[in-house]
Amino acid sequence: MALKNKLNIENSADLAREEERISKKKAAELFESGMLDKLKAGSFKALSFIHRYLFDDIYDFAGKIRTVNLAKSNFRFAPVMYLKAALDNVEKMPQSTYDEIIEKYVEMNIAHPFREGNGRATRIWLDLILKHELKKVVDWSKVDKDDYLLAMERSPIKDIEIKVLLQNALTDKIDDREIYMKGIDHSYYYEGYTTFKTEEI
Ligand SMILES: Nc1ncnc2c1ncn2[C@@H]1O[C@H](COP(=O)(O)OP(=O)(O)OP(=O)(O)O)[C@@H](O)[C@H]1O
Ligand SMILES: [Mg+2]
Repeated sequence: MALKNKLNIENSADLAREEERISKKKAAELFESGMLDKLKAGSFKALSFIHRYLFDDIYDFAGKIRTVNLAKSNFRFAPVMYLKAALDNVEKMPQSTYDEIIEKYVEMNIAHPFREGNGRATRIWLDLILKHELKKVVDWSKVDKDDYLLAMERSPIKDIEIKVLLQNALTDKIDDREIYMKGIDHSYYYEGYTTFKTEEI
């Protein structure tokens, strides 16, 4: 069963395909428009804007903080009850060095503000910070997807793997459309969340 969506698609594989097509088109538009440069790097508002831009034609929840608790491979993202506070704290985290930026990215992933599409929106958000602070971005074509997912799964406990992985893929080609678009590739297909009730914590 697919997530409820504006396209009225019921099959999750069909939805994943359409979602990918549309969000990629929107991501390209976002890049071309120059709107990204106007966002405040590192703010939740910037992330929410990016998410809304990518997914507004697909989901009612585009750009909106989720209202259900989410878990993936046994990891529970921030409970809804504490999500707003978590986002305020993440926003305040420093972002002047590479390590600080990745630590902030890891915390934003732990917050996982949206019902779906966190990975793609947050990778664009990360690139925005790297670009703004270090005049670099990640060349996602140099990041193996399995390595990335494993490093992200490990990141709440130990962030060294994701730090090394992304550091090795940094580039100063910050205005390259193809490099940017690589970050919007899905890191995994059809992989869903399990939801849980706060009482179970
Ligand atoms: N077990 C886990 N623990 C921590 N973080 C995880 C885990 N599994 C996935 N992630 C992170 O969550 C992201 C996926 O979130 P989500 O499915 O909401 O976004 P997406 O844009 O649909 O997916 P993708 O990142 O695969 O393109 C991954 O990119 C990764 O950063
Ligand atoms: Mg997903």
